[in-house]
Amino acid sequence: MTFAIEDSLKKLQVDYVDLLLIHWPSTSDDVTYKAVEFLEELRHKEYCKFIGASNFNVTLLKKSLTLAPLVCNQIEYHPYLAQHKMLEFLQENQLFLTAYCPLAQGAILQDPLIKDIARSHDRQANQIVLRWFLQQESVAVIPKASKETHRISNFDVWNFELHPDEISAISELDKQKRLIDPTWSVDWAK
Ligand SMILES: NC(=O)c1ccc[n+]([C@@H]2O[C@H](COP(=O)([O-])OP(=O)(O)OC[C@H]3O[C@@H](n4cnc5c(N)ncnc54)[C@H](OP(=O)(O)O)[C@@H]3O)[C@@H](O)[C@H]2O)c1
Repeated sequence: MTFAIEDSLKKLQVDYVDLLLIHWPSTSDDVTYKAVEFLEELRHKEYCKFIGASNFNVTLLKKSLTLAPLVCNQIEYHPYLAQHKMLEFLQENQLFLTAYCPLAQGAILQDPLIKDIARSHDRQANQIVLRWFLQQESVAVIPKASKETHRISNFDVWNFELHPDEISAISELDKQKRLIDPTWSVDWAK
């Protein structure tokens, strides 16, 4: 039997990947848990160093952690979509929250508060948002940028800090605006 990951490793021309995720849980919890166990099998076979979840809710994660040592949950997270419950759970269990759509697909860069804070630091709006993530415990962030100038700017976030009041003000922008919510999504609140 060959596994899909073997094809992926061949295409990537590597022997293993650092992190392998389940992109979405199944609509059947049993299938999701089988997939988690299977990922753990692949880790034992050294196809990957670490395994994680994506788009899991807390209920699914709790049970999954009894089956395998997941290291992260990759979910939508940005100032317009707070993730208090999930973040608290991940921090308590020493997992990472990996924030996807961290720039709210660009929308957050037009926010007046973000622009104001950027002006006061003589920085760009994307850098303010990325600092907001990086100054939170157990949070990793994966902005996507096809333009090289954007990628360079996104990496240049290490030599300044936001004040705790600025972090709080940005957190107050939450309006539970979810951009990625297909019909097969889990119940995010559970
Ligand atoms: N696990 C999942 O189910 C899931 C779901 C959705 C997304 N994701 C992943 O999350 C990552 C990011 O998500 P996303 O692409 O939807 O949203 P995003 O990172 O929030 O936003 C991407 C947009 O922001 C722009 N941008 C990036 N850096 C910028 C900068 N410095 N200045 C101005 N604009 C900038 C990009 O423009 P340019 O491209 O023009 O540079 C692009 O239009 C992707 O790698 C994606 O694969 C995962």
